[in-house]
Amino acid sequence: MKLVLATQNPNKVKEIQAVLPSTWSVTTALEAGITEELPETGDTLDANAREKAAFLQEYTGGFALSDDSGLEVDALDGAPGVYSARYGGPEKDDALNRAALLRAMDGQTQRSARFRTVMAWATPTGMTTYEGVVEGTLLTAERGTGGFGYDALFVPIDGDGRTFAEMSVDEKKAMSHRSRALRAWMEDLRS
Ligand code: IMP
Repeated sequence: MKLVLATQNPNKVKEIQAVLPSTWSVTTALEAGITEELPETGDTLDANAREKAAFLQEYTGGFALSDDSGLEVDALDGAPGVYSARYGGPEKDDALNRAALLRAMDGQTQRSARFRTVMAWATPTGMTTYEGVVEGTLLTAERGTGGFGYDALFVPIDGDGRTFAEMSVDEKKAMSHRSRALRAWMEDLRS
């Protein structure tokens, strides 16, 4: 089974590949020869996940799975949320995003947050979405060099105190928002 994901993010592909059976191979849209930027014009994760999956489904005429994720910080009323990718500016740069988040949280003692992923599965006959959430807290300085995005600032509540960036892909997959959404999709496929 070869699955083209409606994403151009190789980190997401690596994490999704780690959850799927080894007989499945997963690629980014770019690796599958789709050089266009995937549309992401919605103001919710759900709308963006649907938009990306619909684009790829129409492009290929087959099946498409997308992932739209965001970090919701309670002290910031849920920001950056759907705008997580460009929180530090239009460059969509992970390091700038983390720096912007640390500035926004400077002096803040209430540091609870969550990652949320919405995946959309588009087929020639319809679309279904799946959600995964992981609760955690934000550090005041980065820790760890693995992962991507905001991983170096996020300590999941179900873990042992390490950030996602201090975990292997397999450790992160045991509790991540992305693998929870993906498992919900796999359960649905099986049934
Ligand atoms: P998008 O889903 O590609 O739009 O990602 C939104 C933003 O959240 C980007 O800045 C990503 O780097 C970040 N992000 C998405 N998933 C994760 C994750 O699993 N860990 C850390 N940051 C993430």
